[in-house]
Amino acid sequence: MCGIVGYIGKRNATDILISGLRRLEYRGYDSAGLALLSDDKITLVKQTGKVAALEQRLKESVASDVREHSCIGIAHTRWATHGLPTEANAHPHTADNGDLALVHNGIIENFADLRRQLESHGCIFTSQTDTEALAHLISTFDEGDLLAAVSLALKRVQGTYGIAVISARHPGQIVVARRGSPLVVGIGESETIIASDVSAIVAHTRQVVYLQDGDVALITENGPQVYTLENAAVDRAVSKVEWEVDAAEKGGFAHFMLKEIFEQPAALQNTIRGRLDMALGTAILSGLNLTARELAAIRRLVIVACGTSLHAGMVGKYLFEGLADLPTDPEQAAEFRYCNPILGADDLVVAISQSGETADTLAAVREGMQKGALVAGLCNVVGSTIARETGRGVYLHAGPEIGVASTKAFTAQVTVLLMMALKLGRSRRLSREAGLSLCEEINRIPEMIGRVLEENERIASIAEKYAGCNNAFFIGRGILYPTALEGALKLKEISYIHAEGYQAAELKHGPIALLDKKLPVIALLNDIPGKEKTLGNAQECIARSAPVIGILTEGDHEAEQVSTDVIRLPRTSAYTAPVITAAALQLFAYHVARLRGCEIDQPRNLAKSVTVE
Ligand code: M6R
Repeated sequence: MCGIVGYIGKRNATDILISGLRRLEYRGYDSAGLALLSDDKITLVKQTGKVAALEQRLKESVASDVREHSCIGIAHTRWATHGLPTEANAHPHTADNGDLALVHNGIIENFADLRRQLESHGCIFTSQTDTEALAHLISTFDEGDLLAAVSLALKRVQGTYGIAVISARHPGQIVVARRGSPLVVGIGESETIIASDVSAIVAHTRQVVYLQDGDVALITENGPQVYTLENAAVDRAVSKVEWEVDAAEKGGFAHFMLKEIFEQPAALQNTIRGRLDMALGTAILSGLNLTARELAAIRRLVIVACGTSLHAGMVGKYLFEGLADLPTDPEQAAEFRYCNPILGADDLVVAISQSGETADTLAAVREGMQKGALVAGLCNVVGSTIARETGRGVYLHAGPEIGVASTKAFTAQVTVLLMMALKLGRSRRLSREAGLSLCEEINRIPEMIGRVLEENERIASIAEKYAGCNNAFFIGRGILYPTALEGALKLKEISYIHAEGYQAAELKHGPIALLDKKLPVIALLNDIPGKEKTLGNAQECIARSAPVIGILTEGDHEAEQVSTDVIRLPRTSAYTAPVITAAALQLFAYHVARLRGCEIDQPRNLAKSVTVE
């Protein structure tokens, strides 16, 4: 949520900041800004709208020698929390008559108190943001040491932050700090790049330091010196980013979302690689760091997650209960903390988060740990806060996901949950033969998704027929119900069509009242147990004149007969059906949104990583 990038070195900072902002734009895109430091002076440019608008403004309003020869700067792309997305509220925010500039992700919860105190001491505020209070606070503490001033100010702050600060009084320095909002430092040859995620850094260096909560760092062109807010030096290891820069580029696709949908066969190969034991018929998930005794002692799973990750967790319930006889409760992470969850040492809390930074999921992780449960993270982003704080878990290894609509992360999450269920099942009741047959099916997932992707053109032509509708229902039964929810979420977030997912049987308990010929029902009719009953529900829709788009197993003529339009999928067992079906629904949502002319990778009001509660 909001993107930060900063540069200090010998090259032209403007280009690096703008290209960094473009890569971070998926984190927020209602306004953008940057501050350049040269000749002991800060030049500030801010603009509502996207980074392209900021770039244009820069060209029009900043002298070319400043634009082309500044070697220090910070920049920000915003997802508004406090204050409208106006130019005044865009970051960077300044203090000290424009000599100090600050960019911030997160929320300063006590900003109103701070603002009142600062105003009573003569500070003039020009925005409605919480961030501006922090800029003034740092400036009032600056007595010649920027790092010390930032540390002192942050001790007065309640809330979350990832910040970068420059000052005309301290050329040759950027000071950064984090609590609850990620910050990464990239170490190059006589240059340092800081950013809220590595995608803005990998084009320049793959050597990075992940800052941790409570860290404050003095950044020079020679890298970071990291301290606590109490000024004790801390050592942070340098890690190597394992993916190449083109993984975060569109690679010829019209949108990141489409690229990421089509990447799924390769991404899931990576998710599965080295994790199946084809001799013992089980999964090897060493990151879980659980002994055989600990595994056997688990009595219940609680899955905490939000959005698409929650839908994956809901699929997990069917997997853990079906394969390992383990009671499993998926919980919306934000609600989890407020219902006094009863947890103990024999409960395993599984936090699912693509970004590993979702504030609500992180809070649920902390609640689980505090209550003495085992807590594991299923994250995609390596080194993310949830991955680090849980200390045990399974990485998705799906590669960077840039499109705001989550696609490959969902299918990778379900695949990892399936491997976990296999492992837990084998330590309980699954025979070696049953384990081996599941291993074989998991190994076939990439190829089966590839076959769904071959249906792209057909799905696009069905989308054409329904792109004009205002409402849509998705129905599924059992393990396919969460996939129906996921299909509806994909459609609504990128096409703005009102879409709802229902358990197929629930339709007749109320929602059926809305059906007419203008309301398509996307029915998940895969040939797995329960299909006959869902077919009956689809018939009920047809009888109310609603068109039914049947997502069904190839060769299933019975299901074809109740469908107005048909998307055919390869035959699978119930356990892999959600993964295969989701890929078809992703393509459907993508094409509907494309035909409606929507901003697919940056849907309105959304941001990729939701780091506020
Ligand atoms: O990074 P996370 O998986 O924790 O994110 C959770 C949700 O915010 C995310 O899945 C969101 O629902 C997506 N936009 C859905 O496409």
